[in-house]
Amino acid sequence: MVQAAHKAARHLVRDFGEVEHLQVSIKGPGDFVSAADRRAEQILRQELARARPGFGFLLEEGGAVGASDADHRWIVDPLDGTTNFLHAVPHFAISIALERHGELVAGLVYDPIKDEMFCAEKGAGAYLNDRRLRVSRRGDLAHCLIGTGIPVLDWPGRAKGFAQQLDRVSNEVAGIRRLGTASLDLSYVAAGRFDGFWEFGLKPWDMAAGIVLVREAGGLVGRLEGEGDLLGEGTLVASNPAIYPRLSELLCVNL
Ligand code: IPD
Ligand code: CA
Ligand code: CA
Repeated sequence: MVQAAHKAARHLVRDFGEVEHLQVSIKGPGDFVSAADRRAEQILRQELARARPGFGFLLEEGGAVGASDADHRWIVDPLDGTTNFLHAVPHFAISIALERHGELVAGLVYDPIKDEMFCAEKGAGAYLNDRRLRVSRRGDLAHCLIGTGIPVLDWPGRAKGFAQQLDRVSNEVAGIRRLGTASLDLSYVAAGRFDGFWEFGLKPWDMAAGIVLVREAGGLVGRLEGEGDLLGEGTLVASNPAIYPRLSELLCVNL
């Protein structure tokens, strides 16, 4: 996973340099970024398939790819934080998770600009490069920094509960951040940089790797609204165990 991420990241970083130039052109870098995204996914797919022939895939661009080994599946977002990338904001990541028998067992989130490699394996802990990660121990919401995703345009959650959630949470915390890369938001919870995070309507490839990281760093992850799969629709909440009950309570609005 690490090798695949490094290889795809080399191309992404080169393409990001190009975006910084295209930024000021009239047409903008839209098509160029779509091509960069697809190329990164192709490299990840090739490298992961070479390392573990037969494993299946769930790819953001390519969708579900069947496998001879039905027990294993890679869940891949080749470029998380596309809007940042497109606007030359240097905050984006590659996200890769491994699912075994339907259970998330490993996660990697790589921020190539800061050279921060977040990795976790079920039962073996979470790491940032070589350093072991733990979620923060802050229990008083008034001192907590919380990440979120702000829905725009016709994104799910916008018309309904997000404004209410924001209002309720902002009434009790030290700060709220929208950094624009869900996989890194979750990695930051694992690293204790954020005390908690929530977002409505994330896709499996946005959250799968980050979920493993948060859990292995001692945090809690859950989904509000209804029963069922953690990777399904709904509000994903992740935080340190101390604030989890209160944060979930604040986020329980009618979405
Ligand atoms: C998006 C980012 C963003 C989140 C969106 C995602 P993309 O992924 O993770 O932070 O708010 O919900 O769709 O489109 O950049 O891969
Ligand atoms: Ca994404
Ligand atoms: Ca993406």
